Amino acid sequence: MSKISAAITAVGGYVPEYVLTNQILETMVDTNDEWITTRTGIKERRILKENGKGTSYLAINAANDLINKTGLDPKEIDLVIVATASPDMKAASTAAYTATQIGATNAFSFDLEAACSSFLFGMSTASSYIESGRYKKILLIGADKNSSFINYKDRATCIIFGDGAGAVLFEPNEEGLGLQDEYLRSDGAGREFLQATYGGSSYPSTPEAVAEGKHFVFQDGKTVFKNAVFNMADVADKIMTRNNLSKDDVAWLVAHQANKRIIDATANRMGLDEKKVMMNIEKYGNTTSATLPLLLNDYESQLKKGDNLIFAAFGGGFTWGSIYLKWAYNS
Ligand code: UT7
Repeated sequence: MSKISAAITAVGGYVPEYVLTNQILETMVDTNDEWITTRTGIKERRILKENGKGTSYLAINAANDLINKTGLDPKEIDLVIVATASPDMKAASTAAYTATQIGATNAFSFDLEAACSSFLFGMSTASSYIESGRYKKILLIGADKNSSFINYKDRATCIIFGDGAGAVLFEPNEEGLGLQDEYLRSDGAGREFLQATYGGSSYPSTPEAVAEGKHFVFQDGKTVFKNAVFNMADVADKIMTRNNLSKDDVAWLVAHQANKRIIDATANRMGLDEKKVMMNIEKYGNTTSATLPLLLNDYESQLKKGDNLIFAAFGGGFTWGSIYLKWAYNS
């Protein structure tokens, strides 16, 4: 019997309707369209405005998009993983709610949190379950409502982040397609440079902390930038080298969308032409766990069976890594 590999067999996506443009941000903080565009590549991002709607709302819509496109019966799904850094609530699994709402009534479910690397690490987790032979259909959703902890008075963060969700289905493959290799890393020394200090278990929210905005996400952008450039390029290069992939063998770079300059640096290190670099940061900004599946959703029609895709991500913690995956279908 041939070895079972874990392939992506369907994708879906969802972004909220409200568009927060650079021009609108100019009226909120001391910034301008030219600075944001040249320093980050971002022109606009989507924001979920409605009160009471959280990350699960984004996740449910992305999952339903996949289900409607493919005709998948949600009752056949074995496991729903919601990769997120912004769960709906403490103590209640966002994935459990999502799974029930989409009709995945035979699935178990859990949240997976690794900041901007959540979806990448989720790919590894979902694939391992499939490769073991234990489960046949795993829905991996990357979803984040970043606007819930962004300070719209802090120009270092509010220009970057947006809300969104993407979903992929992992299934067994016996043709050797799907996930081929992974190189995943973390380093806790990075947490001081990117965090929302209050509102977690170390420092529960207090009225004073909220008044001072300490529950919002803070980042030392320069340090995060330097680490992201070095590490994302490093792991992507390592994955290529150890799989004997030349730049001509790689069809696409699927990189976390945090800053266009970080993505360009990674592509340069890999020797890739920009035509091979998936990019949608200009319209969504950094959607944390949703960047990678939203790229797949936007580029699905251009992907061909057998294409070699290199995924790369970097995020808070620090967490980062790269995955080599062979695309499994023509759409
Ligand atoms: O998903 C993973 C987590 N996040 C990231 O990967 C983000 C990594 N970091 C970055 O993308 C970049 O560091 C930023 C986009 C956040 C900032 O870009 P930068 O090129 O590192 O700018 P900087 O912080 O070095 O600031 C350069 C200048 C400063 O002015 P002076 O001191 O040179 O006069 C800042 O005060 O730009 C100023 N500045 C701004 N100006 C207009 C900083 N933010 C803004 C702004 N608009 N929004």
